[in-house]
Amino acid sequence: MHVTSVRGIVLAGGSGTRLAPMTTAVGKQLLPVYDKPMIYYPLSTLMAGGIREILIISTPEDLPRFERLLGDGRRWGCRFEYVEQARPEGLAQAFVLGEDFIAGERVALVLGVNIFFGTQLQERLRAAAAASLATVFAYHVADPERYGVIEFDALGRPSGIVEKPTEPNSNFAVPGLYFFPGDVAAVARAVRPSDRGEYEITDVISHYLNAGELAVETLDRGTAWLDTGTFESLMQAAQFVQVVEQRQGLKVGCPEETAWREGFIDDAALEALAGPLRKSGYGEYLLGLLQDAGR
Ligand code: TTP
Repeated sequence: MHVTSVRGIVLAGGSGTRLAPMTTAVGKQLLPVYDKPMIYYPLSTLMAGGIREILIISTPEDLPRFERLLGDGRRWGCRFEYVEQARPEGLAQAFVLGEDFIAGERVALVLGVNIFFGTQLQERLRAAAAASLATVFAYHVADPERYGVIEFDALGRPSGIVEKPTEPNSNFAVPGLYFFPGDVAAVARAVRPSDRGEYEITDVISHYLNAGELAVETLDRGTAWLDTGTFESLMQAAQFVQVVEQRQGLKVGCPEETAWREGFIDDAALEALAGPLRKSGYGEYLLGLLQDAGR
């Protein structure tokens, strides 16, 4: 079992205006991505990095729904806590809202709309968890202007990070998965709202970059990073998951499986989790994992 003292935060609020009217009565991270709620994917990502203490931040309306869905985390061998974000005022607020939970430990933040899948991912997550510098990833995308973009100097060293630039200096976007040292709440507290009125995570990242305390790790093309915040990207993510799952017979973003593979829970616990999920086929899948392991 690989367990770390690193804390995890899933930021699962936001206004979801780009998915209206689907998000009129329910937040987007509760919507399905093929066969499971969206939040299962980022949760599994943190768990695959050995992270078991996880804070879920969401809106006052959705927080009770997440508590109903996920509980205290014990059945997955984890500990989940919940904190409200009264208004969606920006990603950097996560560290201020989560200050007590973080308690000065290293922390990973993942956005609720981000899905990661790939061969080297688990090793990369563990390395980032074990590192001491602030760590962000760089991922080549076709449409960098939609994201926080990393700028590079003439020597190819990261020189800046710009939120949604109209003329990006590179094609490298920063995915919604970041690792920060224990002082990040203090750094986030000093951030002032941007022109669009949000506490920007790019300001937090820039602080570490300017201090010479930022590592930028490139995620290669063998890693999929998907975002699910629009009709098209949500549909594409669902199709991606369906294609991979049906081809391999293995699920993507399945927290029960991750908990079991990581040794957070034993065989008996996995079997117990499978029971109520059998009719959908999800439980059969979990039981199949036990059968495969016994072969
Ligand atoms: P977005 O998807 O950019 O935020 P949004 O839901 O406000 O989007 P829109 O209205 O344009 O459709 O945010 C990225 C992730 O961060 C997503 O998982 C929601 C979450 N988030 C919060 O939880 N709180 C916030 O204050 C913001 C800005 C985002």
